[in-house]
Amino acid sequence: MKNTAATLLAQKQSGEKITMLTAYDYTTACIEDECGVNSILVGDSLGMVMLGYENTLPVTMEDMIHHTKAVTRGVKNAFVVGDMPFMSYQTSVYDAVVNAGRLVKEGGAQAVKLEGGAAVCEQIKAIVDSSIPVVGHLGLTPQSVNAFGGFKVQGKDYDRASQIVEDAERIQQAGACAIVLECVPARLASLISKRLVIPTIGIGAGDGCDGQVLVYQDMLGLTTGHTPKFAKKFVDAGALLREGFSEYVSQVQKGEFPSDEHTFKIDDEIMQKIEEKFS
Ligand code: KIV
Repeated sequence: MKNTAATLLAQKQSGEKITMLTAYDYTTACIEDECGVNSILVGDSLGMVMLGYENTLPVTMEDMIHHTKAVTRGVKNAFVVGDMPFMSYQTSVYDAVVNAGRLVKEGGAQAVKLEGGAAVCEQIKAIVDSSIPVVGHLGLTPQSVNAFGGFKVQGKDYDRASQIVEDAERIQQAGACAIVLECVPARLASLISKRLVIPTIGIGAGDGCDGQVLVYQDMLGLTTGHTPKFAKKFVDAGALLREGFSEYVSQVQKGEFPSDEHTFKIDDEIMQKIEEKFS
């Protein structure tokens, strides 16, 4: 049965941990869904891991709709959340509703995610009032990378920690169905998870959250360069891909591929006539 925001809430209530992973294409979405991932996030992280940008800021609505469509075509059960890219909701409540509507109507997302606290509560309320579930996102919100001065853990000092707790409560009050907590101290995330009725989904926020989310390239060992401390490598798919690609290059160069097994046949008589005709 297709998961919804209500499924995630029921999981929190029963103490069953929520699993969320990012996906950006049809094939990956099919596999994650098959493996029983509860929710798939078409994150604007696609700007970095799929499109090679330095951060998520250049990602457009068109990028998000394109990838969300591919993911939703592959998903049978998981709850699909589409990320609202930078400046698709910060500009006005009207823009927020129109762009959230596009992710649902054109992309096929069941919910949208947007970053920020009190400053975006009006937007959250208006989107929820338009019958679109909203997932909030607090802590290290990558669209604020320039304001934060880098990708840094958030909520380590008293004022910022208090602000994150208050923002989480405001987002819940505005009608959000869940909140992603990114890169915040584990004890702070636990406290928030206990205070809120709606589920928290952590990334670098410890085991006290109601669920976990990871960027799939990080957990499969596909990212090059710096990987954050929280990004556990569950398998080294990067090494497997390198082995496969190198073996292909080598076998083609040596004439070992394609062999008979991967080749189509034609009747000898027909081929003889073709050769006579074209010789
Ligand atoms: O864009 C994304 O993938 C995200 C996750 C890191 C939560 O927002």
